[in-house]
Amino acid sequence: MPLDVASAILQRRAIKVFDPDHRMTDAELDTLLGLARRMPTAFNIQNWRFVAVTDPELRTKIRAVAWDQAQVTDSSVLLVLCADIKAWEKSTTRYWENASTEVQQFMTGAIDQYYRGREQVQRDEGMRSCGMAAAAIMLQAESMGYGTCPMDGFDFDAVGKLINLPTDYEIVMFVAVGKCAKAPHPTGGILPTNEIIFRNTF
Ligand SMILES: Cc1cc2nc3c(=O)[nH]c(=O)nc-3n(C[C@H](O)[C@H](O)[C@H](O)COP(=O)(O)O)c2cc1C
Repeated sequence: MPLDVASAILQRRAIKVFDPDHRMTDAELDTLLGLARRMPTAFNIQNWRFVAVTDPELRTKIRAVAWDQAQVTDSSVLLVLCADIKAWEKSTTRYWENASTEVQQFMTGAIDQYYRGREQVQRDEGMRSCGMAAAAIMLQAESMGYGTCPMDGFDFDAVGKLINLPTDYEIVMFVAVGKCAKAPHPTGGILPTNEIIFRNTF
């Protein structure tokens, strides 16, 4: 029985201990990332870039700049979710190649108007896109029998150097994916509903 969405959400936990000997197949990785990239992005700019780090030597170096967190080396794959902050100005018609010429022209203008000169918005868009991709990765991995750990406990500049992060790109976060080798502690705590959810206005 495949896992339904609600079960995947409730079952997902941040996994700290992975089986270091487990290997994920290329087909599984393709499934995971192929589905992640079907999440939405504003104006369909698909500004996410995913780096699947499997090289043990590289992972050891990344772990050294990630508070020595074992998930970095012991998960089956370390996904580094990055954003191309300037995706909005790079050949934008290819984001709308299936649309009519009129729609392509309209979208190109709209994209330019929305992002040009708005550096914070450009960066925020990368965070939004990768946040959604991370959620999809974690839930899909759960349904494939994998555990995950979302991570931002690392030196972003140092990791950027290690993965040859191109100019214009930012690292958003890691998602470590692997076979859970130790059940996590009980959930830290869930805030009361009235602190989180509001009707109409605050
Ligand atoms: C953006 C983000 C960054 C995180 N960074 C780390 C990290 O560096 N190391 C770690 O062990 N857990 C990290 N976590 C896991 C959180 O501590 C964990 O998700 C939270 O305590 C809720 O627990 P749960 O995911 O098991 O429900 C991170 C989670 C998120 C969403």
